[in-house]
Amino acid sequence: MQVCTSSTELRAAMKHRRAVAFVPTMGNLHAGHVSLMTQARLRGETLVASIFVNPLQFGQNEDFNSYPRTFDADCEKLRVAQVDFLFAPTERELYPEPQTYRIDLPEIQNQLEGRFRPGHFGGVATVVLKLFNIVQPQIALFGKKDYQQLMVLRNMVRQLALPVEIVGGETVRDGDGLALSSRNGFLTPPERAEAPRLHRVLLGVRDAIERGETGFPALERDAASELDANGWQTDYVAIRRQTDLQTPSPTDRPLVVLAASRLGIPRLIDNLEVSTEGRGALADS
Ligand code: PAF
Repeated sequence: MQVCTSSTELRAAMKHRRAVAFVPTMGNLHAGHVSLMTQARLRGETLVASIFVNPLQFGQNEDFNSYPRTFDADCEKLRVAQVDFLFAPTERELYPEPQTYRIDLPEIQNQLEGRFRPGHFGGVATVVLKLFNIVQPQIALFGKKDYQQLMVLRNMVRQLALPVEIVGGETVRDGDGLALSSRNGFLTPPERAEAPRLHRVLLGVRDAIERGETGFPALERDAASELDANGWQTDYVAIRRQTDLQTPSPTDRPLVVLAASRLGIPRLIDNLEVSTEGRGALADS
């Protein structure tokens, strides 16, 4: 694996490479990232990963400074996953001047995660567009755990006619159901023991919908109450349409249940698609 810290170096190294599959990350890699690399390895002749903790997508009171940075361990995992090139720019390299030209997203940026993290999706979209311009991949892979991010990026690529296929990778979970996340490392042992409740609550909502329950607001309220009664501070449990993440009518399908809740300091997010006969809107293409 060749590590490139500048766009010029990466472009020169990749000059004759074709069929590029790309997995952008913020590092602190876990099995969820590795599963994306494995899928990408099968899809592209050349596999590029990036590690960049993007300041544009963190709010002022968020965890940019304390976000885990584990570069050497990450490199080892990427080598094992047979990544060809790692793009690991410094902040100065990616943002040599203030990034005043940014992607302006539609109203979805203010809903769900966006309601609690103003400006987050604009920061994500801007850095991903910039990374796409530098790496010029044909395929890019993102985890479904960040469901709204995946939808926002799919829409950006479609509306701006970017020549990149966006592929969603399934969420990887620990044995007890907790979705893998770089932020899980901040959980204390008692919080770690409690954390799988988030997945269990989502399973309960999903099962209720699959049994035919249509009182979505009550299902959302009960799920949030169960979390809060067990020491969580819930931002939302929301049943939404998979296609556009808007509030569904009782007969709309396919659906997804999304949640964000704080357990102590870490804020965890998770989601589950509700099964229908058809494939989910964000299923792999
Ligand atoms: O999902 C992430 O790790 C980040 O949001 C991404 C897509 C790498 C952009 O910084």
